[in-house]
Amino acid sequence: MTYNNILLERHDPVALIRLNRPKVLNALNSALMSELSDLLKELEQDDEVRAIVITGNEKAFAAGADISEMQALDFSRAYREQFISSNWEQVTRCRKPVIAAVAGVALGGGCELAMMCDVIIAADSARFGQPEVKLGILPGAGGTQRLTRAIGKAKAMDLCLTGRMMDAEEAERSGLVCRIVPAATLVDDAIAMAGEIAQNSLMATMFNKEAVNQAFETSLGTGVDYERRLFWASLDTEDRKEGMAAFLEKRSPRWKHR
Ligand code: HXC
Repeated sequence: MTYNNILLERHDPVALIRLNRPKVLNALNSALMSELSDLLKELEQDDEVRAIVITGNEKAFAAGADISEMQALDFSRAYREQFISSNWEQVTRCRKPVIAAVAGVALGGGCELAMMCDVIIAADSARFGQPEVKLGILPGAGGTQRLTRAIGKAKAMDLCLTGRMMDAEEAERSGLVCRIVPAATLVDDAIAMAGEIAQNSLMATMFNKEAVNQAFETSLGTGVDYERRLFWASLDTEDRKEGMAAFLEKRSPRWKHR
C-alpha cells in the first residue's frame, strides 16, 4: 500500500512509523489517520513485527487534529462520518506494543494520539498540551479521560482549562512519559526500547499489555481477577514452557511467539 501522510521504516522486529505532514506540524487530518489505522492493521498481521514506534519530526509529534479540516465540520456531519472514532481507535485496538516517541509539540489530538499508545518516550524538546479550549472546543479523542488518568485531576484541569503546554520535565514528573532522552537520539532510543520489548515472547507481551490496560477499565478486584485469569491462560502457551525450561537449563529462550 502507498501512504502519502506517513512513512514506514522497517527495523524488524520493530516497525517505525513517521507522521509526515511537516508543513503543518503533522496536523492530523482524516487522510493521515486512516492511513495510520490501515498500516497498524497491516502490521498487526505481520509476524515479522513485534513492536511499533510512532514518531513525528524534531519540531512536532503532531500539533493536533487538522483545524482547517475541522472548520467545515458540524454535528450532523461529524455524527454521520463518526469523526474521530472511525479512524483513530485502531491505535487503541492494536494488540502489539506501540511506543510514542515525542519530540517538539504533541498538542490536542497529537497529545491524545500519544496517550493512545502504550507508553510515551519524550525528547527533552517535547511539549504536551490540550489547547482545545482556546479554539472553543474540548479534546475529542480521549484527552480529558486519558490525561486525567495519567497525571491526575489537578494537572489535567490545569492543562485543559488554561490550554498551556507542559515541558518534558513536567510531563515526566507528572507520570505522562516514561523517560526523557536527548532529542538527537530520540528515535534510536525508542527503537532500542521497542527492540528490548520485541526480544520477549510476543504472547507474553500481549498478555502484559492487555492486563495493564485493564487497570483503566475496572475496579481493583475485577482487574486483579482479570489478571489472574490471563496468568492462568499464559501457563498454556508454548513460550511459557520454553521460558521456564530455558531458565532452569541456564540458556536463552527460543521464542515461537505462540
Ligand atoms: C492545521 C496547523 C495546526 C493544526 C499548526 N498548523 N497546527 N494546521 N491544524 N492543528 C499549521 C499552521 O497553520 C502553519 O501553517 C504551520 O502549521 C506552522 O504553524 P505555525 O503556527 O506557523 O508555527 P509556530 O508559530 O511555530 O506555532 C506552533 C504552534 C501553533 C504553537 C504549535 O501552530 C499552534 O498553536 N497550533 C495549533 C495547536 C492546536 O490548537 N491544536 C489543537 C487542535 S484541536 P501555514 O500555512 O500558516 O504555514 C484538536 C482537537 C482534537 O486537536 C479533537 C479530536 C481529534
